[in-house]
Amino acid sequence: MLTTLAIANYRSLRSLILPLASLNVVTGANGSGKSSVYRSLRLLAHAAQGRIISALAGEGGLQSTLWAGPEEITRAMRQGIHAVQGVRRKEPINLKLGFASDSLGYLINLGISSNGMSAFALDPEIKAENIWAGPFLRRASMLVERTGSLVKVKQGKEWQILSNGVPHYESMLMQLADPHHAPEMLVLREQVRSWRFYDHFRTDMEAPARFPQIGTHTSSICDDGRDLAAALQTILEIGDADALSEAVADAFPGASIEVANHDGRFEVLMHQHGLLRPLRAAELSDGTLRYLFLIAALSSPRPAELLVLNEPETSLHPDLLPALGRLIGNAARKSQIIVVTHASRPIAALREYRDCQEFCLEKDFGETKVSGMRELERPSWHWTT
Ligand SMILES: Nc1ncnc2c1ncn2[C@@H]1O[C@H](COP(=O)(O)OP(=O)(O)OP(=O)(O)O)[C@@H](O)[C@H]1O
Ligand SMILES: [Mg+2]
Repeated sequence: MLTTLAIANYRSLRSLILPLASLNVVTGANGSGKSSVYRSLRLLAHAAQGRIISALAGEGGLQSTLWAGPEEITRAMRQGIHAVQGVRRKEPINLKLGFASDSLGYLINLGISSNGMSAFALDPEIKAENIWAGPFLRRASMLVERTGSLVKVKQGKEWQILSNGVPHYESMLMQLADPHHAPEMLVLREQVRSWRFYDHFRTDMEAPARFPQIGTHTSSICDDGRDLAAALQTILEIGDADALSEAVADAFPGASIEVANHDGRFEVLMHQHGLLRPLRAAELSDGTLRYLFLIAALSSPRPAELLVLNEPETSLHPDLLPALGRLIGNAARKSQIIVVTHASRPIAALREYRDCQEFCLEKDFGETKVSGMRELERPSWHWTT
């Protein structure tokens, strides 16, 4: 389980350190930085899959994602005595992302390229990466240290150089994770790769989930939902079929689902109260289809270690929100969950779950802060030793 999430200089998240519970709800007004929390977690996952540089490019490049405010927000700025624009940075700022978990912690530090001659000068450079054991980075608990292209691992009491040539655009998790020299890198990479992110399931009329698709065993539905029928059939065959039926009936009283198999092509059918025939996926409303995606994502027979949901309530009628809260609460028994949401009703339902942590984000001088969080409640965190 993740115990701390730390983000620095990512958009409005100038310095955000969150203590995580097994169920975490992130709320806040428009523009308070909720989606940025979601995206920064996804960037961490991209790092473990060797895609962080291209993911940042997809967001408009590192420059655009870096905190655009001053290095320090002084009291004079807050009081309006000094203009915010008047302050020049003493040193370039870097994007830093990290987490600590029950077992290992990881951080990555990305900065602007130092090679102005290359055609890829706009690519960010990975300046540092660290893996450690324990709640935050300390020299004594450090296991792997990357500085620039040099990667060292701790072997007993000694530090051993693993590589002196890791490209600045590649995470060490991609290049060097091997079971002999750096088993902790491999463990961490696999841990991060198992995280699941659900943001935009496609429900438009051309959405692949609305048409029969070749079905294969699918223990976690993909992020656009194209394999919905296969994911539901997998739950029916090797997962908790009763819990699946209960989740459907909880949201749509009297309804049940079935997966039709047309020569290997699977199609979702939904039996609804009062209708003489089941409706095909192509005939379901956007909200109903979206809710079925959420059921499939949250009832996986191989629950992910971490599930991150961005605004799962989108396009759902408020009457469905309490059932959504129950669905998420039940899934939190098997996976750690982070939900970013606007809606107050699922939050009310989620508060009933033990070990539910709520963070309300707010903007303070352009910077995202957690409302009501005191300095002492912030977990300890160090970006360097
Ligand atoms: N480079 C940057 N530096 C500082 N702030 C930034 C930067 N880029 C974007 N922002 C601000 O960060 C915030 C990003 O908000 P985000 O999209 O995470 O909000 P949200 O809470 O998800 O809002 P919504 O409820 O509207 O989806 C916006 O207020 C935006 O103005
Ligand atoms: Mg948002």
